[in-house]
Parts: sequence; structure tokens; C-alpha cells
Amino acid sequence: MQLRPLEARQATAGNKPKQISAAPAVRAGLHRVRPQPHTNTRHKQPTSTCNAAATSSTLKDTEITSNPSACPFAAAVGSSKRSQPGAQLSAAEVAALQGPGWAALPNGNTANLPQPEGKHSWNPLQLLLGDFPELQQGEVPFLLERLRLFGPVFKWKFATDTVVAVLEYDTIKSLLQHDGTVMSFWAPPGLQAIGSEAGNKAMADPAARMVQRKTLAPGFSRQALRQVLGKVEAIAASHLAQWAAAEDPIDLAVEGRQLAFDFSTQLLVNFDVPEQQRAAVKAKLDAMFKAMMAPPLNLPGTTFRKGIEAKAALLADIKEVIRQADASSGDGASAFELSLKSHRANQGGAELSEDTIAESGISLLLAGTDTSGGGATAALAMLAQAPEVMQRLRQEQQQVIAQHGPGLSLAAVDSMTYAEAVVKEALRLAPPAGAMMRRTLLDLQIGGKFIPAGSLLYLSTFVGSNFADTQLSPSGLAGLTQRPADMAAAASAWSHVDHSLLQQQFKPERWLKKSEGDGASNVRGSSGLLTFGSGPHVCLGMSLFMVEAKVLLALLAREYDIAAVAPEELRFEQLVAAQLVGNAGSVVRVAKL
Ligand code: HEM
Repeated sequence: MQLRPLEARQATAGNKPKQISAAPAVRAGLHRVRPQPHTNTRHKQPTSTCNAAATSSTLKDTEITSNPSACPFAAAVGSSKRSQPGAQLSAAEVAALQGPGWAALPNGNTANLPQPEGKHSWNPLQLLLGDFPELQQGEVPFLLERLRLFGPVFKWKFATDTVVAVLEYDTIKSLLQHDGTVMSFWAPPGLQAIGSEAGNKAMADPAARMVQRKTLAPGFSRQALRQVLGKVEAIAASHLAQWAAAEDPIDLAVEGRQLAFDFSTQLLVNFDVPEQQRAAVKAKLDAMFKAMMAPPLNLPGTTFRKGIEAKAALLADIKEVIRQADASSGDGASAFELSLKSHRANQGGAELSEDTIAESGISLLLAGTDTSGGGATAALAMLAQAPEVMQRLRQEQQQVIAQHGPGLSLAAVDSMTYAEAVVKEALRLAPPAGAMMRRTLLDLQIGGKFIPAGSLLYLSTFVGSNFADTQLSPSGLAGLTQRPADMAAAASAWSHVDHSLLQQQFKPERWLKKSEGDGASNVRGSSGLLTFGSGPHVCLGMSLFMVEAKVLLALLAREYDIAAVAPEELRFEQLVAAQLVGNAGSVVRVAKL
């Protein structure tokens, strides 16, 4: 297959990316797959590494490839060995490590703390699958039930492995600020196998992980955003036009993913995938996503083997793009190329093999595709049933045009505070990443419980973000556990994010400062959103996603209307990542104004 770098094509076709030709109203798309009990996640995030020194002067192969991971739902195979970062700290340094609801314990001093509690059963099925089947019935009721029984820190079994869940917002946020020191990134075996050897190595080494991050960062800078803005607008405009031109209403559960695929391929690695080959490229990515969640059985015909094969094929595609980009004198405007260019300028570029570079491109695709698809879909689905929010978006666009003119410059996009609030609110309620996994590097106490080094943590950013600030829980989760009636109401209301919950909860104004909003919000501002993670490994693609989503909403508000066909059917399922359930509730009509 020939994939041409966009810049090469632009040389002959002018500066605008090709408008993608209209596709059928409802396309067959990638569908998320339920995690297999003994594997893990449904959210496959990507990426890299950890924090630390990052002072290496010569970047080697192992230092650029990011690893597909961040998968929150993992089988717990943490080693109980204390790893390097913790071991290098003095007892006094360890004793100084603490935050709200947690502290490091020097010299194995457990102060006779209790272990986290959990449910035990001798049922053979449960012995094999752990709590997974119950969780699969609904993550929020599962977590709230355990919260009621055991408080905000408890253990549960993922298959035969033990995971410690942490639900308190302040504790999660503070632990993430100490990423790489008290805990490190962890991914399950399936994800590690699909990732690269170099990426896995970096994952285990906080310093290498930070170097990786620094290497990728130029691709996500302000300058990079400025360079890709025109492409963002062209891709969003093209999809909106297709949706409005469709005879039948469109299914957002499918279309949001299609849009994200175009954003990812063109903005992250500069693929200009010809229309007739898009399905094939998408199928490769899909096969890799599925393999990450499947048992890592490398046998002919298995989901895992298919993922390995798809990865090899995609690597070959990306190498072709790299060769053509190298041969062209243009300024490749993709996150991947900008990172690479900056690396080459600083390091001479000799150390990186083509394989390593191509693996980095794949990691970015894995990191940015499903996540941004989920985020864009959530924002559109919520807008489709909130005409008053659409109205306010339109008013904001009139102001933006009056101030900046009709062009979508970066300054214009920056000024869209209401559009940004809409995106944040959609991500709060339907996060494409609702939990993160870590392995502890030190003995810790969390919520008064003893958590030995090597334990696996499940940090629920969904529960943390939503229950830290809502009216349901003004005093946080601890307060909620003391009021059984409130707890029951919360479990029932939040069992699914559906139309009735959204009617109460979808309030973008809560993200505005009081002077700009309706004054009714008790949310802590943007710090209340844990959807992009926090601390040294906060999402690298956050600003890029925000630009994509805001441009999409700006064009929608300026030129179109969107309405749900059957709002009462709308439903997001939360299972580590929120997923818009593909039924009548995901079908919307987009009409030109
Ligand atoms: C709505 C969209 C997105 C969401 C919700 C999201 C969420 C996250 C989260 C939660 C993390 C932290 C994972 C952890 O600490 O375990 C993360 C990391 C990361 N994300 Fe995103 N992401 C999104 C879009 C993107 C995009 C478009 C890219 C572009 C490639 C991207 C690239 C990355 C990278 C490279 C990291 C790793 C950072 C590091 O390890 O230092 N993300 N993302």
C-alpha cells in the first residue's frame, strides 16, 4: 500500500488537505470490544513512560518509542520488589513523601495499619475471574457498592490478581503528582506485548520514560498546534458537511470514531490515506486495539496474533511515510514529524533506527485515536440533546467572529471559553479514560490502609472527578459513605450516564469562572478534571485534542444544528472508558442552518 505524506501531496494539490469524499451516512466503524476477563482494559491508551532526571545527552533507540499502555484495567502482575527509584531514596526523603490521604512509609514501618478490604468468595467461577463479571455489569455501581462497604480504598480481584482501588479525588491527584517516585506506570502483558521492546524498557524506567516524553513534546507545542490548525479545520469541516448531506440520520457511535481516525492519521503521523485504503488502515489499528485486550497467546488465528501481524503491516506503512517525508524538503506538519525533526536537530539523529521511529508513530496513533474519538463523540452526543447549550455556543461564536474575524486562528480558538467548558463537561461525564493503573514503588499508606511496594493501583478518575465536586457529595466520598440514602441515590443515578442524568448534570457553566458563569457551580475549575491524568505524565495530546474539539464545535455552532433522534435512549456505559452505546440514542441529525 502506498501512503503518501501529506506534505508531498500538498506540493501538488495546494495547501489544503484533500476533502475526504462523502461516505455512506452510517459507516461500518470500529467497535469497542469488551475486555476479556483475564486480560484487561477497554481503554487503550498509549504511551510512554515515567518521570525523572531526563538529562541523557544522547538519545538512543530506547528513548523515543512510546509504549501503548496507560491501560487502566490490567491484570495485576506487579512484582513485590522495591524498584530503583524508591530504593535510591533515603529514609528521610521517603518520610517526606506524602499528600492528602496518603504517605510513604520508611523502613517497612507499617504502623500496624490494616490491609485494604475486599469481598472474598470460594465460588469456583469467582476464584477464576475475580470480581470482573460483577464489574462488567456496571463499573459505577460496582465501585460505589465497594465504597459503601469498605470506604474509598479497597481491594478487588481482577481475575486472580489483586488490585487496590483508590477513589478519592485529592488522593489520586496527589499520587499522580508523585508519579515516578512513589509509583510507576504499569501495563498488562497483552499491552506490553503489542508495544515495542524499547517502549517496555522505558516503561519500567522512570528516567527513560521522561526522556521519551521530552522527545515527543515538540510535536504538541503551540507552534505545532499552529501548524496543524488548517488541517484540523479542513477535517472537521469535511465530516460536518458529510453528516449534513447524509439522507439518513447518522450514528455518532460510528462517526465519532471515523472522525478521530482522520484526525489521528493526518495530524499525528501525516498519513494521507487514500479513500479506498482507509478501511484497511483502520482495520489494522482495530486489530491492534483488540489484541491489546486479548490474552497474549501468540498462536495462529488468535486475536493476539492478528494484532501482532497488523502491527507489522502498519509499521511498514509508516516506514513508507517516513521515507517519503525524508525525501521531501517540506515542513511536515504532524506531531510525529515535528518531534522527530526536533530530535534530529538536537541529537544529530543518527541513533534512531527506522523501526524505532515507526514504533513511535504507532504509539501516537494508539494514544490519540480512541481517546479523541470518545471525547468528540461524547461532546456531540450531549450537545444533540441540549439545545440551550447549542444556543450559547452560537452566541459565543458570534462574539469570536466579531473579535477575531471569521478565520479560526489559534487566538480565536483560545478565546472560546464556553466551547472549552462544553468539552470538559462532556469529558467529565463520559471520560475516554476513566481510570489509570500504576505499580507502587514504595510501601505506602493510602486512606489509612497499608499498601506494600509492588502493589497495583487502580485510580478511578471517573469516580474521583465526579464525586469530588457534585452536589451529590459536597464533602467528598467519605461524606457520601456516611449517608446511605445519598449513596443509594448516587449508585442508581450514575449507573449509566443517560438522558435523565445528563439533564441534571450536563452544565458546561460549571467550568467557567463565577464571573462568567451562572454562579451556581461548586466545581474547582479546570483542576477538577482528571480525564487527562495529572502530574508529570499528564496527557501530551491534551491541547491538540482541545483544539480539535473546539474547532469542531465552532464550525458546528456557526453553520449547523444537531439533534438527537431519540434522546431518551441515549446511554453511555462506563467500563474504565465511557462508551456511547450504539442504539437509537446515538443517532443524530445534523442539518445546515
Ligand atoms: C479526549 C482525548 C484524550 C484523553 C481523555 C486522554 C487521556 C490521557 C490520559 C488519562 C493519560 C495519562 C495516562 C496515565 O497517566 O496513565 C494520557 C497520556 C498520554 N496521552 Fe492522552 N488522551 C487524549 C488524547 C490524546 C491525543 C490526541 C494524543 C496524541 C497522540 C495523546 C497522547 C498521549 C500521550 C503521548 C500520553 C503519555 C504521556 C506520558 O506518559 O508522559 N492523548 N492521555
